[in-house]
Amino acid sequence: AYRVDDDYDYLFKVVLVGDSGVGKSNLLSRFTRNEFSLQSKSTIGVEFATRSIRVNDKIVKAQIWDTAGQERFEENEVFSSFCNCIGMVECNHAWNFVPAWMRFISFSRVDSFVVFFSRYRAITSAYYRGAVGALLVYDVTRRVTFENVQRWLKELRDHTDSSIVIMLIGNKADLRHLFAVTTDDAKAYAESENTFFMETSALESTNVEHAFTEVLTQIH
Ligand code: GTP
Ligand code: MG
Repeated sequence: AYRVDDDYDYLFKVVLVGDSGVGKSNLLSRFTRNEFSLQSKSTIGVEFATRSIRVNDKIVKAQIWDTAGQERFEENEVFSSFCNCIGMVECNHAWNFVPAWMRFISFSRVDSFVVFFSRYRAITSAYYRGAVGALLVYDVTRRVTFENVQRWLKELRDHTDSSIVIMLIGNKADLRHLFAVTTDDAKAYAESENTFFMETSALESTNVEHAFTEVLTQIH
């Protein structure tokens, strides 16, 4: 039967999360356009791309959202400095002895923290709103990106419905000689957190199709 491009049965929003440089944007471009870039720049703001696939005789249109991993935690850190700053303002009895010009500097800094923080909150809630699937990506060659998975998982669980389908992704599996996270460790972690798990390579196009399809299939 003939189907026009925008004829679909379900529209599912899927978000990509994980540290900067783990390969989120390349997983997205590999899945939606079959493209890979060795020199891709860090994502600015929020981007999304779509692709429709067939799942159990239904056409599922996946709307996949992508944002930079870095900026977001930097802003998180800015927020904790903001809290520290407020704490200092409230608790420091020596405040009255601080020269007036110094107080002005501190208050203007608090203002910019507030601006930062409300921007962070606005982007975060829009990014996760309505998401029914997530690919939580780490880089198999950089241990720290795996250690941060916990923070991303918390952010996901704080901002999405508990029924969200989460797939832990160990990307850059083509760099076998540089593995810093064993498959067994990652698998065990995924099991303990009740998420799916797969190792992928956006470069070699290994498991990318499989990972997205599996998430879209598991969504009910
Ligand atoms: P942010 O936008 O900063 O959060 O980064 P990102 O997660 O979108 O990473 P991006 O897709 O931009 O990839 C970062 C770097 O890793 C680029 O140089 C890519 O070419 C490289 N890269 C991505 N996927 C793979 C992969 O599967 N294998 C290898 N060897 N390199 C990859
Ligand atoms: Mg990116």
